[in-house]
Amino acid sequence: MLSIIVAKASNDAIGLNNKLLWHISEDLKRFKEITSGHNILMGRKTFESLPGILPNRHHYILTRDKNFTVDSPNVTVIHSLDECIEKFMNSDEETFVIGGGEIYNLLQPHCSKMYLTVVKKDFEADTFFPQIDYSNWETIHISGELADEKSGLIFEFVDLKLK
Ligand SMILES: NC(=O)c1ccc[n+]([C@@H]2O[C@H](COP(=O)([O-])OP(=O)(O)OC[C@H]3O[C@@H](n4cnc5c(N)ncnc54)[C@H](OP(=O)(O)O)[C@@H]3O)[C@@H](O)[C@H]2O)c1
Repeated sequence: MLSIIVAKASNDAIGLNNKLLWHISEDLKRFKEITSGHNILMGRKTFESLPGILPNRHHYILTRDKNFTVDSPNVTVIHSLDECIEKFMNSDEETFVIGGGEIYNLLQPHCSKMYLTVVKKDFEADTFFPQIDYSNWETIHISGELADEKSGLIFEFVDLKLK
């Protein structure tokens, strides 16, 4: 099965200049807890925005570039969306779609769970998460509002399951 994990602003903003829009340590901690030990699937641009290969997770990177390689046993490069869908959707194992905008747009219709961090503010951005049609999704967990002491940002963790 495919699940999305994303941190999005009130206006669905998720990135600017191939960077994240905020630093919320509790959110990064949750990302690590949820994805550790699982496959993570991402676009080439998101991979290049990471500080490096994330420990304890196998990385699948989607690119059209046949020459793109990463020299690591923890990385697999994939060139076709259909291959992603076929490989992960019908598996019992949970694979996490971790971004960015293009990949969320392509794979959201094939995901059955979403782990959202909603940052309660609008941000200027060049990359956005697709609008969620909440009539298709059931809320299975909601943290209530939390505050990040360093940035002063208010945020909430919301887990959704496809109805
Ligand atoms: N807030 C969050 O939770 C979050 C999470 C992740 C990322 N982000 C942010 O999102 C931004 C990056 O997102 P993005 O939309 O620019 O890029 P992206 O989705 O990470 O990657 C786009 C790339 O994926 C490849 N691709 C797309 N469709 C494909 C297809 N059908 N077949 C094969 N390859 C395909 C292409 O790579 P090639 O060009 O190599 O062919 C394309 O350039 C950054 O700002 C990042 O910080 C935010």
